[in-house]
Amino acid sequence: RAEVHTALTEFAADDLRAGKWKAFAKRISFVTSSADDGQDLVEAVRAAEQGLPGAQRLLYLSVPPSVMAPLVEMLGETGLARSARILLEKPFGFDLASARKLNAALHRVVDEEQIFRIDHFLGKEAAQNILAFRFANRLFEPIWNRDHIAWVQIDVPETLTIAGRGGFYDETGAFRDMVVTHLCQLLGFIAMEPPASLDAKSLRDEKAKVFAALAPLDPRRAVFGQYSGYRKDAGVAGSTTETFAAVQAEVRTWRWAGVPFFLRTGKAMAISRQVITVGFHHAPHQMFPLADGLTPRRNRITFTLDDVPEITLGLLAKEPGARLDIGGASLTLTCGDVLDTSRSLPAYERLLLDVMLGDHTLFTRCDEVERLWEVAEPILKRPPVTHPYRRHFWGPAAANALPGPEGWSLNHGE
Ligand code: BG6
Repeated sequence: RAEVHTALTEFAADDLRAGKWKAFAKRISFVTSSADDGQDLVEAVRAAEQGLPGAQRLLYLSVPPSVMAPLVEMLGETGLARSARILLEKPFGFDLASARKLNAALHRVVDEEQIFRIDHFLGKEAAQNILAFRFANRLFEPIWNRDHIAWVQIDVPETLTIAGRGGFYDETGAFRDMVVTHLCQLLGFIAMEPPASLDAKSLRDEKAKVFAALAPLDPRRAVFGQYSGYRKDAGVAGSTTETFAAVQAEVRTWRWAGVPFFLRTGKAMAISRQVITVGFHHAPHQMFPLADGLTPRRNRITFTLDDVPEITLGLLAKEPGARLDIGGASLTLTCGDVLDTSRSLPAYERLLLDVMLGDHTLFTRCDEVERLWEVAEPILKRPPVTHPYRRHFWGPAAANALPGPEGWSLNHGE
């Protein structure tokens, strides 16, 4: 109770009024349980539900992949899973075979309709704002294709290191932890066709179609890295686990053929940012002289996935002065300046609310998860070598070259 109280005091959006807390605190109980013996849990759940007729049972599993299936089995055998909703944290397996096994184990106990697989990036205001930007406006959809877009970069460098999380992380690595999950889900939002509506089925069907069209990831177009000192942080001598991954993905559809999607993430990097940059083709004819020192630059749209989303349009404009020189300019939509953000919800708060409401829209479906593992399979089977890189730097040099001479917008960007 003390722990919950501390967390609520720090994070809850509403003031924690004493009366409210007292009533809530009475409802909190704690038992430990294991896959072999769920009896204590059954009794605790029964006791908790006694004063709550018609309560919706929500089972939240934030456990390592190796124990997820046995726990689900126990929840089935004890009857706890009956008509409950099950909320699952990643990793959903560690490759295609284990993901299929896990899904089969889940489906023996519950229907897919009862399952909510969390990818908290989809709960971010800024991720949903991609959908609003693309599909609520008339302006961008006509140019959202290979005729106008040269490349897309989905870039999530993090300054934080693994210190303290080594046990979990060393078994997982950056590729499984971030690329096959969060970064691919963002790619889904950027690349999907406009759904007919925003209900869970329409939206997830369109996202699944993008994943179906993804080419298997090519290990020759992937770079792995490990920051110096990781082995000490993780307490794993000789580990080759990657703390950095950069890959090139390809969506084989009429809309996207030939447009590379570059995905990058890493720990102990120079800065912490979460950005998606869409780079457009150059104007077909360049008649303006460039201002001194400026190289020809593309129009870009940059989505910043901060708590208060920001979208920037990178443009060219006339430099003030007697000459018709062109210089870089930008238009930025800072949602916090023009929209009321007082009701915005942190990703987890939003997703937990969605589970309570039974809304699957922002949760990943079993076919999406399995397909992404399938796409990842060539890299999992033949991973690229893990290059060492300097702490709080930009990752291995080989990764900087992956998007070609223009590099990554974040560290080479204007
Ligand atoms: C988690 C990953 O899912 O997402 C972490 O396991 C990562 O490694 C985190 O740091 C990033 O999420 P956020 O929302 O805190 O930026």
